[in-house]
Amino acid sequence: MVEYITRKIIQGLRQSLNDSADAVIIITGAITPFDFDEIQQCLDESVRVLKNGGLLFVQGYPTYLPELGVYLDQRLTFKYWIAIKSLEQRNTGGLPSVHAAVILFTKGNGNFQINRVRFPHDYCSHCRKTLRDWGGKTHLMDPEGFAASDVWTSLPLEDNYAQLSEPALSAIVKMVVGNKIIVGPSEGVKTSQTSIGEPTYQYYLPHFGPKTNYPKESQILEDGLWNVVHHGDAMEILKRYPDNSVDLVFADPPYNLSKGYSVYNDTQSRDEYLAWCNSWLEEYIRILKPTGSLYLLNLPHWTMYHAAYLNKRLYFKNWIVWDALSEPRGKIMPAHYGLLFYTKHPTNFIFNQEKLGMVHKAPVRG
Ligand SMILES: C[S@@+](CC[C@H](N)C(=O)[O-])C[C@H]1O[C@@H](n2cnc3c(N)ncnc32)[C@H](O)[C@@H]1O
Repeated sequence: MVEYITRKIIQGLRQSLNDSADAVIIITGAITPFDFDEIQQCLDESVRVLKNGGLLFVQGYPTYLPELGVYLDQRLTFKYWIAIKSLEQRNTGGLPSVHAAVILFTKGNGNFQINRVRFPHDYCSHCRKTLRDWGGKTHLMDPEGFAASDVWTSLPLEDNYAQLSEPALSAIVKMVVGNKIIVGPSEGVKTSQTSIGEPTYQYYLPHFGPKTNYPKESQILEDGLWNVVHHGDAMEILKRYPDNSVDLVFADPPYNLSKGYSVYNDTQSRDEYLAWCNSWLEEYIRILKPTGSLYLLNLPHWTMYHAAYLNKRLYFKNWIVWDALSEPRGKIMPAHYGLLFYTKHPTNFIFNQEKLGMVHKAPVRG
Protein backbone atom coordinates (compact mmCIF):
# COMPACT_ATOMS: atom_id res chain seq x y z
CA MET A 1 0.00 0.00 0.00
CA VAL A 2 1.35 3.41 -0.92
CA GLU A 3 0.53 6.06 1.67
CA TYR A 4 0.86 9.69 0.55
CA ILE A 5 1.56 12.41 3.08
CA THR A 6 1.12 16.09 2.35
CA ARG A 7 3.39 19.09 2.74
CA LYS A 8 3.30 18.71 6.56
CA ILE A 9 5.62 15.82 6.06
CA ILE A 10 7.20 15.61 9.52
CA GLN A 11 3.79 15.45 11.22
CA GLY A 12 2.75 12.86 8.64
CA LEU A 13 5.75 10.67 9.32
CA ARG A 14 5.17 10.96 13.09
CA GLN A 15 1.92 9.02 12.62
CA SER A 16 3.91 5.89 11.72
CA LEU A 17 5.40 3.46 14.25
CA ASN A 18 9.12 2.78 14.62
CA ASP A 19 10.50 0.14 12.22
CA SER A 20 7.21 -0.21 10.36
CA ALA A 21 7.78 0.91 6.76
CA ASP A 22 9.32 -1.07 3.91
CA ALA A 23 10.22 2.10 2.05
CA VAL A 24 10.03 5.88 2.39
CA ILE A 25 10.26 8.14 -0.65
CA ILE A 26 10.99 11.82 0.11
CA ILE A 27 10.63 14.33 -2.72
CA THR A 28 12.79 17.14 -1.37
CA GLY A 29 12.31 19.30 -4.47
CA ALA A 30 8.69 19.84 -3.42
CA ILE A 31 9.48 20.83 0.18
CA THR A 32 9.04 24.59 0.04
CA PRO A 33 10.43 26.82 1.28
CA PHE A 34 13.61 24.75 1.22
CA ASP A 35 14.77 24.48 4.82
CA PHE A 36 17.79 22.27 5.46
CA ASP A 37 16.96 21.75 9.17
CA GLU A 38 13.40 20.76 8.36
CA ILE A 39 14.59 18.30 5.72
CA GLN A 40 17.07 16.80 8.19
CA GLN A 41 14.24 16.30 10.69
CA CYS A 42 12.20 14.70 7.96
CA LEU A 43 15.08 12.34 7.15
CA ASP A 44 15.50 11.50 10.86
CA GLU A 45 11.80 10.60 11.04
CA SER A 46 12.15 8.50 7.88
CA VAL A 47 15.06 6.58 9.42
CA ARG A 48 12.96 5.95 12.55
CA VAL A 49 9.94 4.54 10.71
CA LEU A 50 11.94 2.30 8.34
CA LYS A 51 12.20 -1.42 9.05
CA ASN A 52 15.60 -3.04 9.21
CA GLY A 53 16.51 -3.59 5.55
CA GLY A 54 13.97 -0.92 4.55
CA LEU A 55 14.72 1.52 1.73
CA LEU A 56 14.93 5.30 1.84
CA PHE A 57 14.74 7.07 -1.52
CA VAL A 58 15.53 10.80 -1.47
CA GLN A 59 14.80 12.78 -4.63
CA GLY A 60 16.37 16.14 -5.34
CA TYR A 61 18.63 18.37 -7.38
CA PRO A 62 22.37 17.65 -7.51
CA THR A 63 23.11 21.17 -6.20
CA TYR A 64 22.13 20.32 -2.63
CA LEU A 65 21.52 16.56 -2.53
CA PRO A 66 25.18 15.66 -1.72
CA GLU A 67 24.87 17.38 1.70
CA LEU A 68 21.76 15.35 2.45
CA GLY A 69 23.52 12.21 1.25
CA VAL A 70 26.49 12.84 3.54
CA TYR A 71 24.07 13.42 6.45
CA LEU A 72 22.29 10.12 5.76
CA ASP A 73 25.53 8.21 5.24
CA GLN A 74 26.21 8.60 8.98
CA ARG A 75 22.86 6.91 9.76
CA LEU A 76 22.11 4.42 6.97
CA THR A 77 23.98 2.45 4.32
CA PHE A 78 24.45 4.13 0.94
CA LYS A 79 23.42 2.05 -2.05
CA TYR A 80 22.94 4.11 -5.22
CA TRP A 81 22.76 7.60 -6.64
CA ILE A 82 20.16 7.02 -9.36
CA ALA A 83 20.50 9.62 -12.11
CA ILE A 84 17.22 10.28 -13.93
CA LYS A 85 17.62 11.99 -17.27
CA SER A 86 15.15 14.87 -17.10
CA LEU A 87 14.21 18.12 -18.77
CA GLU A 88 17.12 20.39 -19.49
CA GLN A 89 17.85 22.92 -16.74
CA ARG A 90 19.81 26.05 -17.60
CA ASN A 91 22.10 27.18 -14.83
CA THR A 92 24.49 30.06 -14.32
CA GLY A 93 26.63 29.51 -17.40
CA GLY A 94 28.51 26.39 -18.28
CA LEU A 95 26.89 23.10 -19.00
CA PRO A 96 23.10 22.79 -18.67
CA SER A 97 21.95 19.97 -16.41
CA VAL A 98 19.75 17.10 -17.58
CA HIS A 99 19.86 15.00 -14.44
CA ALA A 100 17.69 14.89 -11.35
CA ALA A 101 18.69 12.40 -8.69
CA VAL A 102 17.22 9.85 -6.32
CA ILE A 103 19.64 8.55 -3.71
CA LEU A 104 18.93 5.16 -2.20
CA PHE A 105 19.94 4.15 1.32
CA THR A 106 19.06 1.08 3.33
CA LYS A 107 18.64 0.70 7.07
CA GLY A 108 20.78 -1.81 8.97
CA ASN A 109 23.93 -3.59 7.88
CA GLY A 110 23.42 -2.99 4.18
CA ASN A 111 21.47 -6.15 3.35
CA PHE A 112 18.32 -5.36 1.45
CA GLN A 113 16.00 -6.87 -1.08
CA ILE A 114 14.61 -5.23 -4.18
CA ASN A 115 12.57 -6.41 -7.10
CA ARG A 116 14.35 -6.26 -10.43
CA VAL A 117 12.94 -3.42 -12.51
CA ARG A 118 13.06 -3.48 -16.29
CA PHE A 119 12.72 -0.69 -18.82
CA PRO A 120 11.70 -1.19 -22.48
CA HIS A 121 14.64 -1.77 -24.80
CA ASP A 122 16.22 1.18 -26.57
CA TYR A 123 17.26 0.73 -30.18
CA CYS A 124 20.45 2.10 -31.67
CA SER A 125 19.59 4.79 -34.20
CA HIS A 126 22.40 3.61 -36.51
CA CYS A 127 22.20 -0.20 -36.53
CA ARG A 128 18.65 -0.59 -35.15
CA LYS A 129 19.82 -3.30 -32.73
CA THR A 130 18.79 -3.26 -29.11
CA LEU A 131 20.95 -1.45 -26.62
CA ARG A 132 21.83 -2.56 -23.11
CA ASP A 133 20.98 -6.17 -23.75
CA TRP A 134 23.09 -8.32 -21.50
CA GLY A 135 22.36 -11.98 -22.05
CA GLY A 136 25.63 -13.83 -21.75
CA LYS A 137 27.05 -15.64 -24.78
CA THR A 138 23.73 -16.06 -26.56
CA HIS A 139 22.92 -12.39 -26.10
CA LEU A 140 19.24 -13.15 -25.57
CA MET A 141 16.85 -10.27 -25.39
CA ASP A 142 14.48 -10.20 -22.44
CA PRO A 143 11.08 -9.25 -23.92
CA GLU A 144 10.29 -7.29 -20.76
CA GLY A 145 13.19 -4.92 -21.35
CA PHE A 146 16.62 -4.30 -19.95
CA ALA A 147 17.45 -4.36 -16.25
CA ALA A 148 17.69 -0.98 -14.55
CA SER A 149 21.09 0.48 -13.87
CA ASP A 150 21.67 3.54 -11.69
CA VAL A 151 21.43 5.78 -14.78
CA TRP A 152 17.87 6.05 -16.10
CA THR A 153 17.89 7.52 -19.58
CA SER A 154 14.84 6.00 -21.21
CA LEU A 155 11.92 7.42 -19.20
CA PRO A 156 9.85 10.22 -20.77
CA LEU A 157 11.68 13.50 -20.22
CA GLU A 158 10.02 15.27 -17.31
CA ASP A 159 10.81 17.78 -14.60
CA ASN A 160 12.08 15.42 -11.92
CA TYR A 161 13.68 18.31 -10.01
CA ALA A 162 10.74 20.06 -8.31
CA GLN A 163 8.63 16.94 -8.57
CA LEU A 164 8.95 13.25 -9.32
CA SER A 165 7.20 12.13 -12.49
CA GLU A 166 4.75 9.24 -12.46
CA PRO A 167 6.97 6.89 -14.53
CA ALA A 168 9.96 7.49 -12.25
CA LEU A 169 7.88 7.04 -9.10
CA SER A 170 6.27 3.88 -10.42
CA ALA A 171 9.70 2.37 -11.26
CA ILE A 172 10.85 3.14 -7.71
CA VAL A 173 7.70 1.65 -6.15
CA LYS A 174 8.10 -1.52 -8.25
CA MET A 175 11.53 -2.07 -6.68
CA VAL A 176 10.15 -2.26 -3.17
CA VAL A 177 9.61 -5.68 -1.62
CA GLY A 178 6.83 -5.28 0.96
CA ASN A 179 3.71 -3.23 1.01
CA LYS A 180 4.13 -0.33 3.37
CA ILE A 181 5.50 2.52 1.31
CA ILE A 182 5.32 6.15 2.42
CA VAL A 183 5.64 8.94 -0.18
CA GLY A 184 5.79 12.63 0.59
CA PRO A 185 5.06 15.34 0.08
CA SER A 186 2.23 14.32 -2.22
CA GLU A 187 2.48 17.73 -3.94
CA GLY A 188 5.79 16.47 -5.33
CA VAL A 189 4.21 13.72 -7.41
CA LYS A 190 3.61 14.85 -10.95
CA THR A 191 0.67 13.01 -12.44
CA SER A 192 -0.25 13.18 -16.09
CA GLN A 193 -3.26 15.36 -15.28
CA THR A 194 -1.84 17.82 -12.81
CA SER A 195 1.36 19.66 -12.35
CA ILE A 196 1.72 20.76 -8.76
CA GLY A 197 4.73 22.53 -7.34
CA GLU A 198 6.87 25.48 -8.21
CA PRO A 199 9.24 25.88 -11.15
CA THR A 200 12.70 24.52 -10.56
CA TYR A 201 15.47 26.76 -9.36
CA GLN A 202 18.77 26.19 -7.66
CA TYR A 203 18.93 26.21 -3.89
CA TYR A 204 21.93 27.61 -2.08
CA LEU A 205 22.36 26.42 1.45
CA PRO A 206 22.90 29.03 4.16
CA HIS A 207 26.41 29.40 5.61
CA PHE A 208 27.98 27.62 2.64
CA GLY A 209 29.12 30.66 0.66
CA PRO A 210 32.29 30.08 -1.31
CA LYS A 211 35.48 31.92 -0.33
CA THR A 212 36.17 35.01 -2.41
CA ASN A 213 39.44 36.30 -0.98
CA TYR A 214 41.85 34.38 -3.18
CA PRO A 215 45.18 36.09 -3.80
CA LYS A 216 45.90 37.62 -7.21
CA GLU A 217 47.17 35.39 -10.00
CA SER A 218 50.81 34.59 -9.54
CA GLN A 219 53.30 35.49 -12.29
CA ILE A 220 56.01 33.21 -10.95
CA LEU A 221 56.37 30.14 -13.13
CA GLU A 222 58.94 27.69 -11.82
CA ASP A 223 60.92 25.76 -14.44
CA GLY A 224 59.82 22.19 -15.11
CA LEU A 225 56.20 22.69 -14.11
CA TRP A 226 54.56 23.34 -17.48
CA ASN A 227 54.00 21.08 -20.51
CA VAL A 228 55.22 18.06 -18.59
CA VAL A 229 53.77 14.76 -17.38
CA HIS A 230 54.83 14.08 -13.81
CA HIS A 231 55.18 10.61 -12.35
CA GLY A 232 55.14 10.80 -8.58
CA ASP A 233 53.10 11.63 -5.52
CA ALA A 234 50.43 14.17 -6.50
CA MET A 235 50.63 15.96 -3.15
CA GLU A 236 54.36 16.61 -3.44
CA ILE A 237 54.08 17.75 -7.04
CA LEU A 238 51.04 19.99 -6.53
CA LYS A 239 52.80 21.85 -3.71
CA ARG A 240 55.37 23.13 -6.22
CA TYR A 241 52.76 25.00 -8.25
CA PRO A 242 52.09 28.68 -7.49
CA ASP A 243 48.72 29.94 -6.31
CA ASN A 244 46.17 30.87 -9.00
CA SER A 245 48.27 29.57 -11.88
CA VAL A 246 46.29 26.76 -13.60
CA ASP A 247 43.28 27.03 -15.94
CA LEU A 248 41.87 23.55 -15.45
CA VAL A 249 42.39 20.71 -13.00
CA PHE A 250 41.03 17.20 -13.42
CA ALA A 251 41.31 14.33 -10.97
CA ASP A 252 40.54 10.64 -11.41
CA PRO A 253 41.74 9.35 -8.03
CA PRO A 254 41.75 5.75 -6.81
CA TYR A 255 38.19 4.83 -5.71
CA ASN A 256 39.12 3.04 -2.46
CA LEU A 257 38.00 -0.28 -3.94
CA SER A 258 40.89 -2.37 -2.58
CA LYS A 259 42.64 -2.45 -5.94
CA GLY A 260 46.25 -3.66 -5.97
CA TYR A 261 48.17 -0.45 -6.67
CA SER A 262 51.91 -0.85 -6.18
CA VAL A 263 52.59 2.21 -4.01
CA TYR A 264 49.16 3.20 -2.80
CA ASN A 265 46.89 1.57 -0.19
CA ASP A 266 43.44 1.42 -1.82
CA THR A 267 41.75 0.02 1.30
CA GLN A 268 41.33 2.91 3.70
CA SER A 269 38.64 3.81 6.21
CA ARG A 270 36.10 6.33 4.98
CA ASP A 271 37.60 9.11 7.07
CA GLU A 272 41.19 8.38 6.03
CA TYR A 273 40.27 8.23 2.35
CA LEU A 274 38.25 11.46 2.46
CA ALA A 275 40.93 13.30 4.47
CA TRP A 276 43.48 12.32 1.81
CA CYS A 277 41.15 13.43 -1.02
CA ASN A 278 40.47 16.73 0.72
CA SER A 279 44.21 17.39 1.13
CA TRP A 280 44.87 17.27 -2.63
CA LEU A 281 41.58 19.01 -3.39
CA GLU A 282 42.75 21.89 -1.24
CA GLU A 283 45.94 22.07 -3.32
CA TYR A 284 43.90 21.95 -6.54
CA ILE A 285 41.77 24.86 -5.34
CA ARG A 286 44.83 26.83 -4.34
CA ILE A 287 46.56 26.51 -7.71
CA LEU A 288 43.42 27.13 -9.79
CA LYS A 289 43.23 30.54 -11.50
CA PRO A 290 40.31 32.77 -10.47
CA THR A 291 38.74 31.93 -13.87
CA GLY A 292 39.65 28.24 -13.61
CA SER A 293 37.57 25.05 -13.56
CA LEU A 294 37.84 21.86 -11.57
CA TYR A 295 36.64 18.43 -12.71
CA LEU A 296 36.62 15.41 -10.44
CA LEU A 297 35.58 11.85 -11.27
CA ASN A 298 34.63 9.22 -8.71
CA LEU A 299 31.96 6.71 -7.69
CA PRO A 300 28.70 8.42 -6.61
CA HIS A 301 29.22 7.54 -2.94
CA TRP A 302 32.51 9.49 -2.83
CA THR A 303 31.28 12.13 -5.29
CA MET A 304 28.62 13.10 -2.72
CA TYR A 305 31.36 13.81 -0.17
CA HIS A 306 33.50 15.70 -2.69
CA ALA A 307 30.52 17.87 -3.66
CA ALA A 308 29.65 18.61 -0.03
CA TYR A 309 33.29 19.67 0.52
CA LEU A 310 33.58 21.73 -2.67
CA ASN A 311 30.22 23.49 -2.16
CA LYS A 312 31.89 25.43 0.66
CA ARG A 313 34.88 26.43 -1.47
CA LEU A 314 33.95 26.74 -5.15
CA TYR A 315 30.86 27.23 -7.34
CA PHE A 316 28.89 24.16 -8.35
CA LYS A 317 28.31 23.94 -12.09
CA ASN A 318 27.28 20.37 -12.70
CA TRP A 319 27.24 16.75 -11.58
CA ILE A 320 27.86 15.18 -14.99
CA VAL A 321 26.66 11.59 -15.18
CA TRP A 322 28.95 9.18 -17.00
CA ASP A 323 26.85 6.17 -17.95
CA ALA A 324 29.55 3.51 -18.04
CA LEU A 325 27.28 0.56 -18.97
CA SER A 326 28.97 -1.85 -16.60
CA GLU A 327 28.44 -5.60 -16.52
CA PRO A 328 25.43 -7.16 -14.74
CA ARG A 329 25.81 -7.10 -10.96
CA GLY A 330 22.98 -7.00 -8.42
CA LYS A 331 19.46 -5.95 -9.22
CA ILE A 332 20.34 -2.41 -10.12
CA MET A 333 23.53 -2.44 -12.14
CA PRO A 334 26.07 0.16 -11.07
CA ALA A 335 26.91 2.08 -14.21
CA HIS A 336 27.27 5.58 -12.86
CA TYR A 337 30.42 7.61 -12.34
CA GLY A 338 29.89 11.18 -11.14
CA LEU A 339 32.02 13.84 -12.85
CA LEU A 340 31.85 17.05 -10.82
CA PHE A 341 32.36 20.42 -12.49
CA TYR A 342 33.13 23.45 -10.27
CA THR A 343 34.52 26.90 -10.98
CA LYS A 344 36.40 29.39 -8.82
CA HIS A 345 34.27 32.32 -9.98
CA PRO A 346 30.45 32.10 -10.28
CA THR A 347 30.25 33.59 -13.79
CA ASN A 348 33.70 34.60 -15.02
CA PHE A 349 35.12 31.26 -16.15
CA ILE A 350 36.09 29.71 -19.46
CA PHE A 351 33.78 27.03 -20.84
CA ASN A 352 33.85 26.39 -24.58
CA GLN A 353 30.45 24.79 -24.97
CA GLU A 354 30.45 25.23 -28.75
CA LYS A 355 33.40 22.82 -28.92
CA LEU A 356 31.29 20.07 -27.33
CA GLY A 357 29.52 19.26 -30.59
CA MET A 358 29.63 15.52 -30.01
CA VAL A 359 27.53 15.66 -26.86
CA HIS A 360 23.87 14.87 -27.51
CA LYS A 361 21.55 17.54 -26.19
CA ALA A 362 18.29 16.59 -24.51
CA PRO A 363 15.27 18.18 -26.20
CA VAL A 364 13.65 20.96 -24.19
CA ARG A 365 9.91 20.57 -23.62
CA GLY A 366 7.90 23.76 -23.35
C1 LIG B 1 41.37 5.50 -11.03
S1 LIG B 1 43.07 5.46 -11.47
C2 LIG B 1 43.19 6.69 -12.70
C3 LIG B 1 43.46 6.10 -14.01
C4 LIG B 1 43.72 7.12 -15.11
N1 LIG B 1 42.66 8.08 -15.24
C5 LIG B 1 43.90 6.38 -16.41
O1 LIG B 1 43.00 6.45 -17.26
O2 LIG B 1 44.89 5.72 -16.55
C6 LIG B 1 43.87 6.21 -10.10
C7 LIG B 1 45.36 6.41 -10.31
O3 LIG B 1 45.89 7.22 -9.24
C8 LIG B 1 47.24 6.77 -8.97
N2 LIG B 1 47.65 7.26 -7.65
C9 LIG B 1 47.41 6.72 -6.45
N3 LIG B 1 47.96 7.47 -5.46
C10 LIG B 1 48.55 8.53 -6.06
C11 LIG B 1 49.30 9.63 -5.58
N4 LIG B 1 49.50 9.83 -4.28
N5 LIG B 1 49.77 10.52 -6.48
C12 LIG B 1 49.55 10.33 -7.79
N6 LIG B 1 48.85 9.30 -8.32
C13 LIG B 1 48.37 8.41 -7.45
C14 LIG B 1 47.13 5.28 -9.08
O4 LIG B 1 48.42 4.73 -9.31
C15 LIG B 1 46.18 5.12 -10.30
O5 LIG B 1 46.92 5.04 -11.49
